[in-house]
Amino acid sequence: MRMSEFSDKQRLAYCGAMTSDNATPTPAPSASFAAIQQLCAADMAAVDAVIRGELNSDVVLINQIGEHIVRAGGKRLRPLLVVLTARACGAGNIDVATRLAAVVEFIHTATLLHDDVVDESSLRRGRQTANALWGNAASVLVGDFLYSRAFQMMVGVDQMAVMKLLADTTNAIAAGEVLQLLHMGDPDLTESKYLDVIRRKTAILFAAACQLGAMSAGAGLSVQRSMYNYGMALGIAFQIADDVLDYAGDVGQIGKNVGDDLAEGKTTLPLILAQMRASAADVEAIRSAVRNADRLALSNVLDVIRSTDALDASLGRATDYADQATQSLPALARSASFDALEALARYAVQRVS
Ligand code: IPE
Ligand code: IPE
Ligand code: MG
Ligand code: MG
Repeated sequence: MRMSEFSDKQRLAYCGAMTSDNATPTPAPSASFAAIQQLCAADMAAVDAVIRGELNSDVVLINQIGEHIVRAGGKRLRPLLVVLTARACGAGNIDVATRLAAVVEFIHTATLLHDDVVDESSLRRGRQTANALWGNAASVLVGDFLYSRAFQMMVGVDQMAVMKLLADTTNAIAAGEVLQLLHMGDPDLTESKYLDVIRRKTAILFAAACQLGAMSAGAGLSVQRSMYNYGMALGIAFQIADDVLDYAGDVGQIGKNVGDDLAEGKTTLPLILAQMRASAADVEAIRSAVRNADRLALSNVLDVIRSTDALDASLGRATDYADQATQSLPALARSASFDALEALARYAVQRVS
């Protein structure tokens, strides 16, 4: 994908966000997420059309819940990655990438429906969760519908390599969520076990999204592998940032409740790093809050997190993974899409929503 393949409007919006002087674009890493969305607006509109078309069912509740969560939007980051990697790999026609992008968003949405049941979350994308409105059973079943619809769509693409990648990916996500469940209420989760969980539950779908984009563009195995590695590192950075936002985010911006992780007894990187740096008494306060899944202990735990700089330390780790992501990018000709992939690595860490 070359810059010339975008419309003037898209190009200007993108470069304009990168620099105060449109005549001399600065390097892409400073491009904002909004500018990247603008760059991909036409491709993402096509993805949106597929998503809406494929949501349909003759069972009313499926439409209601599907519309509820899909209408709320979300960042659509994973389908954006499919489209951008396809473009960066030189795809001229992105019809297949568009369908695969919708498949990936369906899988993501299914995991969110299930995850909110497991995490007992009541707010998602600035709305009450489906489980809060329709109950756990309906959420789980509509999640299953979305998973299986994703597989119908994937079979429609009719490529064994695509089916294998997505089958392995969804299986790993499920295993990651179960692994996480086993660690609920466990304050002893180590950083390496935490990384194992987030690789599976989150990063692997980012990795698959990026490989799918490359595959759909006809890229060779080595480029596909590099894109996969980029997505994996990006996804790890993204989940660490999510775990930071769970303590420090603004509810209005993240569209989710703050403190959900502690309320579920989930040990995430901020708590792991805070325990390494805190006094014995403060460590015990964290351990007891996790064991008892004690939302009321949030303000005490936040004090310990602040006094140990655990959020900055976590974002430092996220930055290392973001750097790893950009270093993994294959040696492709520079293009607006390629630059946007670099910029997304920064965004994954710096995002506020
Ligand atoms: C939420 O993902 C689940 C995580 C992996 C942290 P997003 O933050 O991408 O959610 P939406 O799609 O934008 O709502
Ligand atoms: C991501 O973890 C879950 C999935 C990959 C489905 P979280 O539980 O932190 O995600 P949010 O914060 O609820 O979006
Ligand atoms: Mg959750
Ligand atoms: Mg979270």
